[in-house]
Parts: sequence; structure tokens; C-alpha cells
Amino acid sequence: MKKIIAMILVAMLALAGVSAMAESLKMCTNVAFPPYEFYGEDGEATGIDVEIAKAIAAKLGYDLEVVDIEFAQCIPGVQSGKYDFSAAGMTVTEERKQMVQFTDTYATGIQSIIVPEDSTVESLDDFVEANGTVKVGVQMATTGDLYTTWDYEDEGKGTVDRYTNGAAAVQALLAGKVDCVVIDNEPAKNFVAQNEGLKILDTAYAVEDYAMAFSKESPIYDDFNAALAELIEDGTVQSIIDTFIPAA
Ligand code: ARG
Repeated sequence: MKKIIAMILVAMLALAGVSAMAESLKMCTNVAFPPYEFYGEDGEATGIDVEIAKAIAAKLGYDLEVVDIEFAQCIPGVQSGKYDFSAAGMTVTEERKQMVQFTDTYATGIQSIIVPEDSTVESLDDFVEANGTVKVGVQMATTGDLYTTWDYEDEGKGTVDRYTNGAAAVQALLAGKVDCVVIDNEPAKNFVAQNEGLKILDTAYAVEDYAMAFSKESPIYDDFNAALAELIEDGTVQSIIDTFIPAA
């Protein structure tokens, strides 16, 4: 009997030790990008990126800590080692690959154009044709910012106003400060649904792949990416995506 009690005690201590030791992985993102990351009704960050990252962390025996920062700070924060990784609906680009390493891609994104509902334009070029210039609103440091800067601002065909998040860019559009907002398709649908008088143009501006970003020295990158690959393979990732983007 004593022996059994002793064994149970040892087992309990071991369990307590393991759970107390469960380390957390620090994920940085900008929690203003529904349905990839947003605050749920309980005030906790949720969304496609958060839930996929949680599933991976659990698989690897970690807790997940979500840190809400500006999108522009996500890559520098990962590079400096301040955060373990970033999951932020982040597009894989050649430039970013110089700075971080990306996991396998787990979703496709489209840069969409939001305009006032009564607008008759079909593209950014239509604004340039009509007014000689286009005033674009974007979220700072996103691909929407980079591409429109190259294609319009650098070409002398327009100006790009950079906001700290997509919602602020959409408010600027509603206030008539910009002609349009270039932003990822799913957040665009959310913003259009939440605000009267806006629509998304049929023509996509760019099609892209999303992946999570790690520093090039990250000790957990290989395990994390392997776990992600398994969750893609077994359908977990797709079912998380389907929860947040119900089939039309
Ligand atoms: N896909 C775009 C990019 O990588 C926008 C991502 C913005 N993400 C966010 N969580 N606010 O540049």
C-alpha cells in the first residue's frame, strides 16, 4: 500500500512538474485582420492564424502566447528573437525571404480593392485615367502598401496613405480621404460587411501565399514546420479555415 501511494505521489509530482514547465511560444501578429486574427467575444485573440498556431504549439507541447503588435514590427521582432515566430496572414515575398524563413504555405491570399459602392471604376488605373492620379489607402508595410507604392506612387501616378491597420484605412475611405483601399481579400470582405456603402472590385490586384515567419536561426523552425505539414495533411488546417471562412 505504501509503495502504491509513493508511486502515485511520484506520478503526480512528475505531472505537476511537466505542466508547470510547459513553456510558451511567443507569436507576434497584428490582431486587426479578421478572419486571420481578431478579438473574439471573450476578448481573446482568435482566428485562422491563432488557431493553427495553437494546434501546432499543442502538438509540440507548448502553450501559445499571442502578442499584438504593429504589422510593420512583425518581421523585425522575429529577426531580433523577441518573438518565436509571426503568424499574421503574412505573404511570402522574395524580399522577406532575405530576412526570415517561411513555413510551408497554409492559405492563399488576394490583394483586393475596396471602393465606394457607387463607384464605376474597375481598376486602380481607371482612377488614374479619370483624375490623373489615384489616392490609395493601405495598411503600412503590407504587400498592398509595397505593390501600390511601386506601381503608382513611384511611377508618379498616385499617392499611398499608410495606416497602422486595415480598419483605419477603411475609415479613411469612408471619410473620402482616399479613393480606395488595397488589402487582403478576406479582411476586405469583413470590412465591407461591417460598414455601409462599400464594395470590392472583381479584379484582384495580386494573388499570394501566406506562411508563418521564423528567424533564420530559430531552433524550433524544423519541428514547427513538420507539425504544420502534418496538420495540413490530416485536414486540421482546412477545418480551421472552414470554421472562419464558411463556404459561400
Ligand atoms: N498579406 C499582407 C502582407 O503580408 C497583409 C498582412 C497583414 N496582416 C495583419 N495581421 N495585419 O503584407
